[in-house]
Amino acid sequence: MPDSALYIGLMSGTSLDGVDGVIARFDSAGKPELAGRASVPFPEALRGELLALNSPGDNELARAALASNALAVVYAEVVSRLLGSTGLTARAITAIGAHGQTVRHQPALGYTIQLNAPALLVELTDIAVVADFRTRDVAAGGQGAPLVPAFHAGVFGCDHTRVVLNLGGIANITVLRPGKPPQGFDTGPANALMDMWCLEHTGMPYDANGDWGARGNILPDLLDHLIASEPWFALPAAKSTGRDLFNRAWLDDRISWVMLERSTTDTPGFRNAAGKATEMSALNIQATLRALTARSACDAILHAAPEVSELVVCGGGARNSALMRELATRLPCAVKPTDEIGIAAQDVEALAFAWLAWAHHNKKPAGLPAVTGARGPRLLGATWPR
Ligand SMILES: Nc1ncnc2c1ncn2[C@@H]1O[C@H](COP(=O)(O)OP(=O)(O)O)[C@@H](O)[C@H]1O
Ligand SMILES: [Mg+2]
Repeated sequence: MPDSALYIGLMSGTSLDGVDGVIARFDSAGKPELAGRASVPFPEALRGELLALNSPGDNELARAALASNALAVVYAEVVSRLLGSTGLTARAITAIGAHGQTVRHQPALGYTIQLNAPALLVELTDIAVVADFRTRDVAAGGQGAPLVPAFHAGVFGCDHTRVVLNLGGIANITVLRPGKPPQGFDTGPANALMDMWCLEHTGMPYDANGDWGARGNILPDLLDHLIASEPWFALPAAKSTGRDLFNRAWLDDRISWVMLERSTTDTPGFRNAAGKATEMSALNIQATLRALTARSACDAILHAAPEVSELVVCGGGARNSALMRELATRLPCAVKPTDEIGIAAQDVEALAFAWLAWAHHNKKPAGLPAVTGARGPRLLGATWPR
């Protein structure tokens, strides 16, 4: 086994925005050094099909197989750009860690489904692929998620209580305390709901910088109802979630409940933070979805780590300034993107999947039973050799 080796990590999460990739060199202890990064957005048709495959529909098996192949083509494009920008050859890379696209996540029922076509990806890249990282943990009684806390501990562990918050389609946290094993769990929706609402009302795939939603007022009644009406928020860890729960139908049910309340109450309309009545406009709902992300994450953080002294944020949500400001107002500690401690927010999860490939290759069980609830540590992933 050489002292260091190069791995590629490919991540496409529940935001369905596209694929983030990194090349990193790992030393014998699994410490990474980033060598290159690339992102490729999903073509519109693939994004739509992946979203559609999150819900029951016609001829799902064949459509899932074709979407998996199309996903492998985008993955291969990211690999090609990574190699092109670094001048590295396919032969120099030990393996690709490819997450695949989650379309169902039901660990309580014994399954989690990531669409992927690892064999095709090997053919397209001539590099070994490690994939299917979550199913072994689920088979061992775990959530299969989040898988990143062990990686977060390795790269972000420090001498004080630091919490890592990943804002993808769904939000998850890792609590890092000096000398203690990491804790971690999903905290609820993040970009999945905000992106959906923004696309519908502005035609833009996401609310750049959070500027659009920042013009709206948080609707306290709706925010309270979104939290109180969903038992998942109050569940203890280990827990994880996905678009199976936090989707269009989930939001529609709750907005219509509030509309009903509104029409039957003596004081129609919703109170804004100043206690004034305000229209339930699209803007206000966007602001409320932002507040839902921040409140559910901050409640979970303060419950799991009341002594938190620093929050570092990764994932695309770290680029949403309005959301970052709101996190800062809800926590008694510094809030910053991971860029400020050495890894760009958009690269963290892709780097985690490069690390998971490294861990698989080196026969190191990477899941943390205390995080996922699995019966024990398991070797995660399977290899498709070149
Ligand atoms: N400049 C930005 N302003 C606001 N939100 C952003 C920005 N850039 C990215 N995002 C959000 O981040 C999401 C992508 O985050 P990502 O970490 O890739 O999530 P996932 O892992 O679920 O794919 C986008 O869909 C969008 O909601
Ligand atoms: Mg993404």
